[in-house]
Amino acid sequence: MSKWKKLYLVVNDGGDGDGEDHGAWFNPVFVSADGREVKLSSRKWKTAKSGWGKIGFGISATGKPLKSGDGKAQPDGLGTHANSTIVFDVPKGAVRFKAQAGLANTSKGKGKIQFTVSDSMPSFAAASNSKEGPHATPNSPIILPHVAVKALVDLEAIEACLDAVGSVNSRSALWALRKIHDTKVVDGLIAKYSTSSEESLKADILATLIRIYQIEAPYDGSWWWSTRPDTRGPYYKPIKWEGSKKIGAFVKAQWDAGEHRDIIVAHNAKTRSEIKGVDVASIASAPVKPVGPKVDLSAIARAKGQVGKMSIEDVMLALDNVKGKVKRGEELFSQQGCIACHTTDAKQPAKGPFMGQVGAVLTREQIAESILKPNASISQGFATVSVETKDGKALVGFITAQTADKVEMRDIAGQVHIVKVANIKSKHELETSMMPAGLANSLTMEDFASLIAYLASQKK
Ligand code: HEC
Repeated sequence: MSKWKKLYLVVNDGGDGDGEDHGAWFNPVFVSADGREVKLSSRKWKTAKSGWGKIGFGISATGKPLKSGDGKAQPDGLGTHANSTIVFDVPKGAVRFKAQAGLANTSKGKGKIQFTVSDSMPSFAAASNSKEGPHATPNSPIILPHVAVKALVDLEAIEACLDAVGSVNSRSALWALRKIHDTKVVDGLIAKYSTSSEESLKADILATLIRIYQIEAPYDGSWWWSTRPDTRGPYYKPIKWEGSKKIGAFVKAQWDAGEHRDIIVAHNAKTRSEIKGVDVASIASAPVKPVGPKVDLSAIARAKGQVGKMSIEDVMLALDNVKGKVKRGEELFSQQGCIACHTTDAKQPAKGPFMGQVGAVLTREQIAESILKPNASISQGFATVSVETKDGKALVGFITAQTADKVEMRDIAGQVHIVKVANIKSKHELETSMMPAGLANSLTMEDFASLIAYLASQKK
């Protein structure tokens, strides 16, 4: 490095996100031509930034004394957290930089990072794939079982599957059976349940029966999946079928007998089956209150706090260095009026985009951008629609449901309007989002980061 003016010590997240990436430069020294060493810890850095926590000699990102993975104290080591860039001036006469790079012991061996030493800021085109989200990595071990289950379903291999219930292949057999809506499956599973003495198997059978209590409605062209695929599943438009009655009665009987009530409640809610008479417990423990449109969104947007006074670019940059608290974010989610249009609870009716999974779909940056600049990208299915009716009303909102004869819309105040298709004079899409800009303006940077942290944690 005899010609270097600056030394860039860069720690990257290794492409897998930056969880537990407590990187450290251990025993860093400049070496001169005659072999003399100058400790890096005796110098001051020019600039230093990191993705989280503290940066410093002798400390890890958590602020604890810096130790290497083997537990050895490293008072001269430089602790930081990916993604981090620390820049030093190279002292005169230095020809070499020497250090060991690794994880601080506070990472508990979990981090995965990449170290770079350079005389200028290196570019990391390849590292950006870490932003792709969970579906970027295919789950290859599941492919074979998945193909096998598909084949069993296509073959309608009901008897073979029923025979396998209770064997070593029980799990896959039940997996296939929950995709076959046939009264033979219902009868077979009920029979297996009655003859089985294994409680976990009985629980699995109950779960399977509840899963096939409803079926996907055949598509007849008169309706659509409205706002965006409702990812709560397992069916987009569930309806009852021939087997429903028997399943309902059987599940209710188990409920009344006090059998596996936790399984029944959980699966009845998860599949939104609404089997009659079995969900008293869940109703008692989690009352679902409809959210009234009582928030004054324009007042929230007018208040100017730290975030409102900064440029969006500065907020995005600052966000890199503030972590935020999930709990606080949850409070802000209602305080800032988000609940007027969004919910994180799959049991609540979806109004605007469902937020219960947003952390699995969008990165922190994308979430922040969606809040700061709602118009920049509009989520699929949530385009703003302007409707004029034949009786002289004008409505602006996004469509929450649509059938052959009615359109249900939600306006900016979160209020629902139902318009008869026959009464529509004109209807067209606008290029602006229904989500008001500026709802985060009144927040401090810390609070904004908390709101983002809360949403990023929504990965049901
Ligand atoms: C008046 C209704 C309304 C309010 C209030 C509202 N939003 Fe939205 N939001 C929407 C609509 C409609 C969309 C979809 C259109 C778009 O992408 O701009 C959306 C989109 C989003 C998205 C992107 C979702 C995705 O999957 O792309 C995020 C994140 C978000 N909102 C967060 C918030 C937060 C946080 C608040 C509170 C500060 C909030 N919203 C308040 C209506 C609202």
